[in-house]
Amino acid sequence: MPEFPDIPRHIAVIMDGNGRWAKERGLPRREGHRAGAESVREVTDACIEIGVQYLTVYAFSSENWNRPQAEVTALMGLLDRFLSDKAKDLKKQNIRLLAIGQLDRLPAKTRGLLEKIMEQTADHSAMTLVLALSYGGREEIVSAARSLATDAAAGKIQPAQIDGTLFASRLQTAGIPDPDLLIRTSGEMRVSNFLLWQISYAEIVIVKKFWPDFRRNDLIEAVREYQRRHRRFGAL
Ligand code: IPE
Ligand code: IPE
Ligand code: MG
Repeated sequence: MPEFPDIPRHIAVIMDGNGRWAKERGLPRREGHRAGAESVREVTDACIEIGVQYLTVYAFSSENWNRPQAEVTALMGLLDRFLSDKAKDLKKQNIRLLAIGQLDRLPAKTRGLLEKIMEQTADHSAMTLVLALSYGGREEIVSAARSLATDAAAGKIQPAQIDGTLFASRLQTAGIPDPDLLIRTSGEMRVSNFLLWQISYAEIVIVKKFWPDFRRNDLIEAVREYQRRHRRFGAL
């Protein structure tokens, strides 16, 4: 697309503000999450439209397990519905689905659905949609460190061999390029344990709107903002 010469290869999104969106309308929080799922669909379509190769969405953090049980249950239910509804579109749109996070903490039904769709879409090539579920950046880094320590203790690797490349290969995002653009909605200026290693040089765009109000044009506007940035990677 000529008007988009410099499309981020990987966009990562902290989808925040569903609860406040609902509160503003006098609705229960789950209605905010329901509306937020619609934004995921629209933003996925917009990413395909402009040629983004990877879209990672933070749908549920390790810390979100600490929310009231009713909200966690509602979120898992919506996730199941999203996965069942979206399976056909992923096929039609040639999208590969991946998931990162402590997936063994998810309900068996959700994990089963996820695994089935990941298997069915494994060779899709138009775009990769990565769902961060029960995900925490610190947990991911600790687990990579543990796996390297285990190999070192078993004599499979030497500690001196451990460098950035080897470390990154033990993260769940191994094989996925680092995000170029990180978007957070609802105006919050924090990272909340998302992709701590991977966002080292991501351009950050904070949007005031709540996630359910973030749609195609907002994604395009965030990409335009990204295109106005001058990335330096520490050099001049
Ligand atoms: C984002 O919206 C969705 C999840 C974290 C699961 P929130 O639920 O955090 O909504 P706010 O931030 O309370 O408004
Ligand atoms: C970050 O949002 C997690 C997700 C978007 C899934 P939170 O609402 O959980 O983060 P905090 O509590 O504002 O830091
Ligand atoms: Mg929030």
